[in-house]
Amino acid sequence: MENTKEIHDLIVTDNIPSILEFKEIIRDIATNPNVVALKERVQHNNKSRYYHCLCVSYYTYCICKKLKLDYISAARGAMLHDFYYYDWRDKNVENQKKFHAFRHPRIALNNASDLFELNNIEKDIILKHMWPLTIKLPSYKESYIVTLVDKYCATYELFKNFKK
Ligand SMILES: [Fe+2]
Ligand SMILES: [Fe+2]
Repeated sequence: MENTKEIHDLIVTDNIPSILEFKEIIRDIATNPNVVALKERVQHNNKSRYYHCLCVSYYTYCICKKLKLDYISAARGAMLHDFYYYDWRDKNVENQKKFHAFRHPRIALNNASDLFELNNIEKDIILKHMWPLTIKLPSYKESYIVTLVDKYCATYELFKNFKK
């Protein structure tokens, strides 16, 4: 995996075969205007929610492909795992921050189901990605990988900002 170049830039610009395949797998999701709107939502520090989902999706794709898992469902589910629009930091909404971790997976799943035909792995990935915070165990290996990659990417996005 790339370490010197921003992964987002790599995905957007490079044309090496694995990235072309990845882009093709998520194309309909990544270009849907409702998903593209996540570029306007801040996830961690100055990174957009779209960027975060794209990174989680790409790393998930790489790992699942290496492990011979269902990398297509994994990448697609990961791209939609944080498909919600509200700002969890909004102090004007009561209990927004408190319950965010528990409620946004269901909101993301509802939003994703409205727009895309999801299989069971994709649904499980979206709904259980906050595990172990949300107690219900993921049902697929692909879902466990997304829980790990999501935490890795979130930590990286936060850490990068501290370094600056
Ligand atoms: Fe999330
Ligand atoms: Fe996330």
